Amino acid sequence: MRICVIGAGYVGLVSAACFAEMGNSVICVERDAARVARLARGEAPIYEPGLEPLLKAHLASGQLRFTEQLAAGIALAEIVFIAVGTPSGEDGSADLSHVLAVADDLGASLQRACIVVDKSTVPVGTGERVAQRINAGLLRRAKQCKVTVASNPEFLKEGSAIDDFMRPDRVIIGCDDPASAEVLRRLYAPFLRNHERLLCMSLRAAEFSKYAANAFLATKISFINEMAGLCARLDVDIEEVRRGIGSDKRIGTHFIYAGCGYGGSCFPKDVRALIRTAEQEGIEPGILRAVEARNALQKTLLFQALREHFSGYLQGRVVALWGLAFKPGTDDLREAPSLVLLDALLAAGVSVQACDPVAIGAVAERYPQALDSGQLRLSESPYAVVEGADALVLITEWKQFRQPDFQRVRALMRMPVLFDGRNIYDAKQLAELGYLYRGIGRPALGHCKVRAA
Ligand SMILES: NC(=O)c1ccc[n+]([C@@H]2O[C@H](COP(=O)([O-])OP(=O)(O)OC[C@H]3O[C@@H](n4cnc5c(N)ncnc54)[C@H](O)[C@@H]3O)[C@@H](O)[C@H]2O)c1
Repeated sequence: MRICVIGAGYVGLVSAACFAEMGNSVICVERDAARVARLARGEAPIYEPGLEPLLKAHLASGQLRFTEQLAAGIALAEIVFIAVGTPSGEDGSADLSHVLAVADDLGASLQRACIVVDKSTVPVGTGERVAQRINAGLLRRAKQCKVTVASNPEFLKEGSAIDDFMRPDRVIIGCDDPASAEVLRRLYAPFLRNHERLLCMSLRAAEFSKYAANAFLATKISFINEMAGLCARLDVDIEEVRRGIGSDKRIGTHFIYAGCGYGGSCFPKDVRALIRTAEQEGIEPGILRAVEARNALQKTLLFQALREHFSGYLQGRVVALWGLAFKPGTDDLREAPSLVLLDALLAAGVSVQACDPVAIGAVAERYPQALDSGQLRLSESPYAVVEGADALVLITEWKQFRQPDFQRVRALMRMPVLFDGRNIYDAKQLAELGYLYRGIGRPALGHCKVRAA
């Protein structure tokens, strides 16, 4: 099929590459000229495992092209995907300006009938607004071509996006026109060959499903984090509780890991947007507000624990951080818990030595002053950053950090103190190695005398 994808970000780029992989002819329209230039050279502008080989292969085969020009992108397209950002607006609602600008551009440029599919996460009713804008543009130009608007929310996860797209748990098509829904079913058939899970529903239900899914997952995280808070008081290890409850099929093992809060480009903004929708509809979103509040609190816990450990005297301390991206497998820093901790540590006069396998470039762009002054040092080596540290904090559980040589780490640190923001380490083993270990919702283990800074 001939496909146009508008927006070459995490979702647009992955979708475009995967559609091309299935033999479709894909043009991806991106307004950022520098990004288009990099893409045309086969360079992925984002870190996503498996993406660059796909880009290179399909640029070479001619199945995938990039352009800044919308008119060129849509000239022959049967299906046009909108995959632009929908960040939080000032009041928390989804900022639809990018999506609606694309709709206006489509109204001004479309020359032929097509299906316009919204892949961006958008509030209920947005598909109808997109259709109105496109049709108003067509009417102004006295252009008679049938444009159907559908919703196809995306459920890929950064870090495993290619795999998720190629083998989705389910594909949701929200479309009130059966013929267009059938075209989209055929487009996705190769992705669902051994796992037929295509769910067709109304446009509005598809739009809502995406928010409900993210809100539910965020709720699971905030729930377990609240339980972890209680465990910490009751001298109970949340890790034992997690295993105890996760074996119940009704609860399941996913998204019940206590940690230092969720971040990323989706959960925070989507929970906020749903809260705003509820407020607009006069419904009190009590659960969603609690989810958000717990997450905001959770992101501050590591700093509180460090402050407590140093009895409030943080100035001049050296703290090492492992993992800065909002989760493993991505260079995305949007709303990452690491940023909350970094800001607080820098403001408290702490020297920070931080490591991340792929996100240090993005961090360097955010903290130029701290880098210049030497208060912040960045490295890709987990061992380099622990040298002379008074404490080590694990924030993002990259595989590289799962089984380090803790004896070597201990020898490099000034004080063997470990704050495990994701509960990935064996507390007993670390205590035996001479560490003071503190997790989230776990009893502290080991001893370590704090020396004057
Ligand atoms: N990132 C994820 O993991 C994920 C997962 C599921 C759904 N989503 C949703 O998908 C949407 C896109 O998210 P993302 O993370 O890919 O965003 P992103 O910010 O990474 O990418 C958006 C891209 O669109 C481009 N763009 C904006 N306006 C444009 C225009 N008029 N013409 C051409 N290009 C334009 C931007 O330059 C940018 O490159 C959002 O609604 C998001 O909530 C994201």
